[in-house]
Amino acid sequence: MVKKVILYGLVVVLVLFVAIQFVPYGRDHTNPPIVSEPAWDSPETRALAKRACFDCHSYETVWPWYSHVAPASWLVYKDVVEGRDEFSFSNWAEQPKRARKLAEVITDGSMPPPQYLLLHPEARLSAEEKQQLITGLQKSVP
Ligand code: HEC
Repeated sequence: MVKKVILYGLVVVLVLFVAIQFVPYGRDHTNPPIVSEPAWDSPETRALAKRACFDCHSYETVWPWYSHVAPASWLVYKDVVEGRDEFSFSNWAEQPKRARKLAEVITDGSMPPPQYLLLHPEARLSAEEKQQLITGLQKSVP
């Protein structure tokens, strides 16, 4: 009896998992052409920003394999859409951010978002790298 219930439960979960793969939301993984970038003071500043910020704030998003699998795909997609909406290093002129604002979110640890860092340890910046990025951004943007 218990075995049957567990088996039935697993089948339901499996069917649901397959069914949500057909939801169209989050399947668009377009990286639009780059329009404009900040006047980077050095390639190092850009490299740090690319490492820590570009997946959500640029048109050079690296879409990982799980961004093709619901429900993870929905979360990744939402982050990228909302991140690009806020500002994009690839469409900088349209909606530039002040260096002060960028420095603030890097310092307080809210960006990159902590849940993103769990899956992207390479985006984690050391204290020195954070400072280097902040100083670089101060020289690159007003
Ligand atoms: C995993 C995706 C992701 C990454 C990586 C990421 N961001 Fe964000 N960022 C978002 C999203 C989503 C928002 C909009 C919602 C919010 O404010 O949380 C946002 C908002 C912001 C804002 C506006 C916040 C405000 O209070 O006005 C700034 C500034 C920002 N990000 C800077 C950065 C910087 C700098 C980096 C790299 C050091 C970075 N972000 C990395 C997803 C990301």
